[in-house]
Amino acid sequence: MKKIIIRGGNKLNGNIHIEGMKNAALPIIFASVLVGEKCFIENIPDVNDINISLEILRNIGADIKFPKKNCIEIDTSNVVPCSSPYDLVSKMRGSTYLLGAELGRFGVSKVGWPGGCDFGTRPIDQHIKGFEALGATVVAEGGYINASVVKNETDSGEVYSKNGLHGARVFLDVASVGATINVILAATLADGVTVIENAAREPHIVDLAGFLNTCGADIMGAGTSVIKIRGVDKLHGCQYKIIPDMIEAGTYMTAVAATGGCVSIQSVIPKHLETITAKLREMGVSVTEYEDSITVESDGNLKPVTVKTLPYPGFPTDMHPQFTVLLCLADGVGQITENVWDNRYRYVDELHMMGAVISVDGRTATVVGNGHLKGAPVKSVDLRAGAALVIAGLAADGVTEISKTETIERGYHNLVGKLRLLGADISKMQ
Ligand code: EPZ
Repeated sequence: MKKIIIRGGNKLNGNIHIEGMKNAALPIIFASVLVGEKCFIENIPDVNDINISLEILRNIGADIKFPKKNCIEIDTSNVVPCSSPYDLVSKMRGSTYLLGAELGRFGVSKVGWPGGCDFGTRPIDQHIKGFEALGATVVAEGGYINASVVKNETDSGEVYSKNGLHGARVFLDVASVGATINVILAATLADGVTVIENAAREPHIVDLAGFLNTCGADIMGAGTSVIKIRGVDKLHGCQYKIIPDMIEAGTYMTAVAATGGCVSIQSVIPKHLETITAKLREMGVSVTEYEDSITVESDGNLKPVTVKTLPYPGFPTDMHPQFTVLLCLADGVGQITENVWDNRYRYVDELHMMGAVISVDGRTATVVGNGHLKGAPVKSVDLRAGAALVIAGLAADGVTEISKTETIERGYHNLVGKLRLLGADISKMQ
């Protein structure tokens, strides 16, 4: 099992570069199935979830080349639906998007039940509601999700739309990122107009719509809670660049706040980070925004705050564990309320091992910050919890040993290397 060893106490200083956004690259890679031609996509992050998604696509017939670093050339002209490997699909949540992509291109899809971080229940009822509104029948059985549509034929015998789907109005009960993405994928080549209401507004939804519109789709309103998709007959190949990863950037911002120091974080979109910036400023951290970078400076003294996670543009749930570490290091009582996931608090026991004083009551954790954490042997229970434990180790007294770090590699490229560059005493152990 891979481990990360950290001797805490070093301040972080210097410059780092942020990778492309994992949660934007995943839907865009699967959306390439709709195109059926060659697409050239830049700023693809080299992280395990992306590598698994490319392996899934290769298994169903996509031709994938790597013409240069962080770039892929993907040709989905020979993709065959309903042939994805169960063992790969079950490793991550992002493979849910294969349902919408195959249904959107072929009118049929069969995908193993998706995996992903364990935050309690992770239903896909809203994805299914959207597919059914567009005319598909969805059946979950034997560990697979089967989606198909009976293709109605016009009098002259031709199918009125390749995938047999028709436009519809879809009101999402929750502003689900995944469901919004999957309905967009299924509706892009459908016959007629689809309107998604209560849609998720995350930057990665905007990036997906940007990619599809560059391929000839007709999607309006992405980034707002009402998205209109006018079905088109066909898409064409394109060249596209993924947006920077706001959660990777936020993680490094939090690390500097925890250890003290001054770091310039390059290749970001400051607008995507504004709730993280606002909270850090409330805690007494200096954040200076430039056109495509930010500089974070801290003396390590932190004021306690109250944090409430919400769908974008609210405070991102994927920054929740990292900010709990800051509350542990602050001087006084702070609170964090998790409003997106049922149970994102599995990491709290690991912080207890490091001396944290945290009590969880329902959706709210109350943290009695005393400025100190102690190094200990802990385990990464999920992607962002693992990143939070790294931050805790950087600021703790003594040595922290983190196990199950493969969860961290799902979403962070070279986290250890980048932190070493900034002066951290951190190393990987196989
Ligand atoms: C995406 O997950 C991200 N994953 C998650 O990031 C992120 O935490 C989440 O969005 C929220 O921002 C990827 O992009 C691969 P949701 P997703 O559908 O799409 C409920 C990370 O760390 N819900 O927006 O699965 C659900 O239970 C990962 O990178 C339904 O009730 O999240 C949850 O309470 C972890 N029915 C809420 O909506 C549904 O059909 C938000 O889920 C779907 C969701």
